[in-house]
Amino acid sequence: MATGAYDSSTARAYVRATDSVFRRDVISHTTRAELGDLRGLSVLDVGCGEGRDARWARAQGAVRVLGVDLSEEMVRMARQRSAGDEHLTFVHGDGTALPDTGRFDVALAVNVLHYALSRDSLARMYQQVYDRMHPGGRLVAVCADSRCDPSRPGPDAYDITIERPAGAEEGAEVRQRFLRDGRPVAEIVYRHWPRDLHERLAHQAGFTHLRWSALRCTADTVPRRGPDRHARYLSNPHLVVLTARVAPR
Ligand SMILES: C[S@@+](CC[C@H](N)C(=O)[O-])C[C@H]1O[C@@H](n2cnc3c(N)ncnc32)[C@H](O)[C@@H]1O
Repeated sequence: MATGAYDSSTARAYVRATDSVFRRDVISHTTRAELGDLRGLSVLDVGCGEGRDARWARAQGAVRVLGVDLSEEMVRMARQRSAGDEHLTFVHGDGTALPDTGRFDVALAVNVLHYALSRDSLARMYQQVYDRMHPGGRLVAVCADSRCDPSRPGPDAYDITIERPAGAEEGAEVRQRFLRDGRPVAEIVYRHWPRDLHERLAHQAGFTHLRWSALRCTADTVPRRGPDRHARYLSNPHLVVLTARVAPR
C-alpha cells in the first residue's frame, strides 16, 4: 500500500509543479522514446496521476489505455481531462492489488514504484503488473534513482530538492520539494529503494531483459534552458528509467 498523499490540494499542487519544462522535455521525452511505437497496442498506466501519459499513448494509436491510480482526486482529474473516449479509461485502484481488467501489451509506471511503503509492497507491484501483461509485453518505469546524491547539485537545476539522509537504508523516507522562486510549493514523500532491489524484485516477478537508461533532454532543451542547467541536472539526476520485458510465449 502507498500513501493517499495525492488527494485534494496536494494533487493540484503536484500537477501544477510538474507541468514544467523538466516534465515535458526530460521525463516525458525519455519515457516516450523508451515506449516506442504504440500503434495497435494496449497500455496499462499504473499510478497514472491526471492521465497525461495515458492520453498521449492513446493519441499515438494505442487501441486501449487504462490508467489506475490510488488517489481518487487524480482519477477524477484524469476522467475530466479525457472525457469522451471510450478506449481511454481510468479506475481508482492500488498497484499492489490491481483490479482485474484484462491483459496489456505495454505497462507504464512513471514516478510510482518508489511510493511503495515496504519491500513487500514493491514486490507486489512488480508481480501485479507482470501478471496483467501479455507474453512479449514491455514495461517502462521511471523510478527515483538510489544513485542520486542529494548533497550534490543536480535536481536543483529544475527547482527540485531531495532530502534523504546520507547512507540511507533501504526503505528510508525521501522528501522531494518543488520550488517556485526559491520557495517550496509542493512536497512529496516516498521511499529509498536501491536499484539492485528493483532488479531482484522485477526478476522475481518474471520480467526479463532489465535495462536502466538515463534520462535525456530534447535537442532544443539545451538552447532554451542553457547548457549548464541541462548538464547540471543530468550529472546527478534524481530519476532513472527501468525497462523490462515479459518473455514471449
Ligand atoms: C508522482 S505522481 C505520478 C503521476 C503520473 N504517473 C505522472 O507521471 O504524472 C504518483 C502517482 O502515483 C499514485 N500512486 C502512489 N502509490 C500508488 C499505488 N500503490 N497504486 C496506484 N497509484 C499509486 C499517486 O496517487 C500519484 O497519482
